[in-house]
Amino acid sequence: LLPFANVALSRVLRRRKRLAHLSSLQDAINLLRDSKRIIILSGAGISTSCGIPDFRSSTGLYAQLQDEGEYELDDPQQMFDIRYFRERPEVFYSFAKQIYPSNFFPSPCHRWIKLLEDRGQLLRNYTQNIDTLENLAGVTKVLQCHGSFSTASCLRCKTRVPGPTIEPYIMAQKVPYCGTCRETRDRGLEIRRARKEAAKKSKLKGKAKEWDSGSEEEDSDGSEWGGGEPGIIKPDITFFGQALDSEFDQCLFKDREEVDLLVIIGTSLKVAPVSEVLTHIPHSVPQIFINLTPVHHVQPDICLLGDADSIVTYLSTQLGWTIPPPSVVVHP
Ligand code: APR
Repeated sequence: LLPFANVALSRVLRRRKRLAHLSSLQDAINLLRDSKRIIILSGAGISTSCGIPDFRSSTGLYAQLQDEGEYELDDPQQMFDIRYFRERPEVFYSFAKQIYPSNFFPSPCHRWIKLLEDRGQLLRNYTQNIDTLENLAGVTKVLQCHGSFSTASCLRCKTRVPGPTIEPYIMAQKVPYCGTCRETRDRGLEIRRARKEAAKKSKLKGKAKEWDSGSEEEDSDGSEWGGGEPGIIKPDITFFGQALDSEFDQCLFKDREEVDLLVIIGTSLKVAPVSEVLTHIPHSVPQIFINLTPVHHVQPDICLLGDADSIVTYLSTQLGWTIPPPSVVVHP
């Protein structure tokens, strides 16, 4: 193990030596000016100024859920846990309207990402956010690593529906059940009922026929249906215990060969696999971290601590760039 550790340590030390000169605001400005294939890794911190709380700050969603105690959760993260959702979907649906992206508008950070794309410098924005404000800002090269409310799927038959289909249920705090499942079940019941009728008739005519012994109650277990209730429809946001969409790995596998600057904005980098993007990017690629609070488990080359909107606005001013004003927001 020791030789391996030495190799890893020497690689890190070599990288740090090569990039050791990178530490200041001016270095960040020079990098932003000269880089052509920038990956932006963003989190909830770029949407707080839009009125959407982040998760782990003292005023974040998890603190609110803990303080309110309204949902009787063992842990606030349970609200986004797939096992808990399967058991008690009504808890998430009693809460979801608080995070449903209905009347929010992009922040200067979202519009800055759009500016980078318009300048041809954005390779891709990997966002952990589910608020789709990147789309609203007109960003096209965005990967919603943790999904979004744009679509929703049945946990049972996997039928996918447009997000607005379940919006009335979210606003009414009701659990949406799958119409496709229900149709399949009803069709299955109908088939079995018709079979029973036919069996009765043929029996009456003296023809020996395997008596279909199923009763109405058992018909809900008809072969076409397989029993149980219609599936629950869940927004296509990634819950704890669910894998990310394969698109994440595919994009990262491709982008890691092209990226020339990684900018991390508004995230505590606490949730894998997105937090591990930093380890998949070649050590030669400089990393800029823009956040209100420091992180201690990773060592980006340049850390700009403060309000993200203010920092990206300052950087743009120094570069002679103009962040599009809110009125220029492109609605999809
Ligand atoms: N400017 C800069 N940074 C900010 C601002 C701001 N205005 N507001 C908050 N932040 C910082 C916080 O200090 C915090 O470090 O943004 C970070 C947000 O971290 P989290 O709340 O942990 O959110 P995020 O990193 O996006 O969470 C990742 O966790 O629960 C899951 O699926 C959920 O996508 C989410 C994932």
